[in-house]
Amino acid sequence: MLHFDLLATEGHARRGRLTLAHGVVETPVFMPVGTYGTVKGMTPRDLHAIGAPIILGNTFHLWLRPGLDVIGSFGGLHAFEGWDKPILTDSGGFQVWSLGEMRKISEEGVRFASPVNGDKLLLTPEESIRIQTVLNSDIVMQFDECTPYWKPGSSAASIQGLSPQEAAGHVTTEAEARSSMELSLRWARRCQEAMGRFENPNALFGIVQGGMFEALRDESLAGLEALDLPGIAVGGLSVGEPKAEMRRILAHLGPRLPAHKPHYLMGVGTPEDLVESVAQGIDMFDCVMPTRNARNGHLFTRYGDLKLRNARHRSDPGPVDPSCACYACAGPSGVPVEQGGPGGFSRAYLHHLDRCGEMLGPMLASIHNLHYYQQLTREMRAAIEAGQFGVWRGRFAADRGRGV
Ligand code: GUN
Ligand code: ZN
Repeated sequence: MLHFDLLATEGHARRGRLTLAHGVVETPVFMPVGTYGTVKGMTPRDLHAIGAPIILGNTFHLWLRPGLDVIGSFGGLHAFEGWDKPILTDSGGFQVWSLGEMRKISEEGVRFASPVNGDKLLLTPEESIRIQTVLNSDIVMQFDECTPYWKPGSSAASIQGLSPQEAAGHVTTEAEARSSMELSLRWARRCQEAMGRFENPNALFGIVQGGMFEALRDESLAGLEALDLPGIAVGGLSVGEPKAEMRRILAHLGPRLPAHKPHYLMGVGTPEDLVESVAQGIDMFDCVMPTRNARNGHLFTRYGDLKLRNARHRSDPGPVDPSCACYACAGPSGVPVEQGGPGGFSRAYLHHLDRCGEMLGPMLASIHNLHYYQQLTREMRAAIEAGQFGVWRGRFAADRGRGV
């Protein structure tokens, strides 16, 4: 089941409410990534405390480990991982794609060797839906092919020193992007059919592909709209393309997405990416960036990004972000230092934990970064509701440029 209410708009920006089997999600929303059935370093209690209303899981990883027999015996992923709010599962398309040379794509699906034990496996649209049915995720993603920006074996680094013409030869062509997009569209139909066959009551989202080609994006969207699925995602972005290319595709596609359905931008991105994308009509985001960067000592704050490993933090008694109400910055009171709160953990302490490789370091850093992303979306929701998103956006940019 899925119900989407559009509560307010400002320009293309939208404030919405998504009602799912396991609860209500206010949009714009950021969804923390829990690939293996855990958002790394975060207990469900931590996730509740930062206000995360929905988290992700990955079909591919959970299929390989622990396997459907185990999760099925718990009645689904919610009971297995101890999370009672909504879950969105990605279909495995993107994760299989990330295996690189180890996979073989055909009309039927994707053949690959298990990275866990080498078993030869076949993931198809039908199998992905069967797995997601056992997981019982609130939002089911279609099985797709994420069209790469670079041709296999090429990358921004590998084209160093080439002329622009030579470099262009390493980028996916329109013909390649077309056949990939058309395959994803055929797979979307098979996923919809499988949802019926497995009597999956949850919400299937289609994924717009088409690479960096606006006309292909339009065709992909039209093909998905004909299926009338409950939600629409934008895939194949943030896959190594220049930022300006992603912005161009979003500016084209955002305003064309169906107004009465939720719009999910997959795998994006930085705080600035979220704000720009909300301005183009995106409602939902996921990204490993807040958790992955936290583990590398890269913290996002209202006043810019902070590198915990920098020696200047060695004896700094201040919090990571004086405006932040998270447990790491504000302590149990939840009152930001900026508003007179007593403060939580110091930059000096977090710097020390990182240098010693202590577990608490990445845990506190993940709490902070995910809280920052939740706060960012909370502020955008309030701003759109108040008709102040334009004003808020200017202040966001000024604050982020201030420096920490
Ligand atoms: N995550 C980030 N991008 C994509 C995509 O294009 N497809 C899928 N399935 N997941 C993604
Ligand atoms: Zn914080």
